[in-house]
Amino acid sequence: MSQGVNVGPAVPADAAGLCLLTAEVAAEGEFIVPDRLFFSEAQQAAVLAQRDPAYHQIWVGRDGPRVVCELEVVRGVWPKTQHTATLAVVVAKSHRGAGLFSRCLEAAQAWARAQQVEKLCLTVFATNAGARAAYRRRGFVEEGVRRGQYRMGGALVDEVLMAHWLNPSGGVMDGRQHGP
Ligand SMILES: CC(C)(COP(=O)(O)OP(=O)(O)OC[C@H]1O[C@@H](n2cnc3c(N)ncnc32)[C@H](O)[C@@H]1OP(=O)(O)O)[C@@H](O)C(=O)NCCC(=O)NCCS
Repeated sequence: MSQGVNVGPAVPADAAGLCLLTAEVAAEGEFIVPDRLFFSEAQQAAVLAQRDPAYHQIWVGRDGPRVVCELEVVRGVWPKTQHTATLAVVVAKSHRGAGLFSRCLEAAQAWARAQQVEKLCLTVFATNAGARAAYRRRGFVEEGVRRGQYRMGGALVDEVLMAHWLNPSGGVMDGRQHGP
């Protein structure tokens, strides 16, 4: 399934396909925070045209005319946060489990290394066992939980914070501690 899908950086012409994909996954109701489309096609196209590629990258998987996967990475802009970048990914239901996340992640990791990003971060609903498993399979570890950060279908759901360090030291540098 993934073989015929072309993975590459998003361009403004992908805006309509990205909007459709976001709306589809939002309508599933259980994986991402928005429950409907929050960008117009024109706004999405403007983001794609105007973003600073050193700080904001989006990769898409295209199956013919259809966008079936999106992985977005936003890097911290301040000296204190520039070594980190936050990642978000969605794959169309029809194309899950076919390696598209993995292919986009490889591209994102190469970009991150070129920008001297050291740490890729993401958050995921505690209830999203499939995504948590996929992230763990690709080297992300769980590093924290925000309790009851979401309310879904009347129930409180935790937000799980996960991260993947790109350098072998895994965030432990020069023997220094992270806290006070
Ligand atoms: C989670 C998601 C991004 C994974 O993308 P994907 O393209 O299906 O993942 P891949 O096919 O690249 O799989 C990567 C690894 O994770 C594993 N994996 C993928 N989905 C899994 C699942 N549901 N359960 C267990 N393992 C899973 C794969 O087996 C693979 O490991 P392997 O190579 O050792 O076999 C995708 O399923 C998705 O978009 N889901 C709905 C939206 C969502 O949850 N987005 C994330 C919000 S935080």
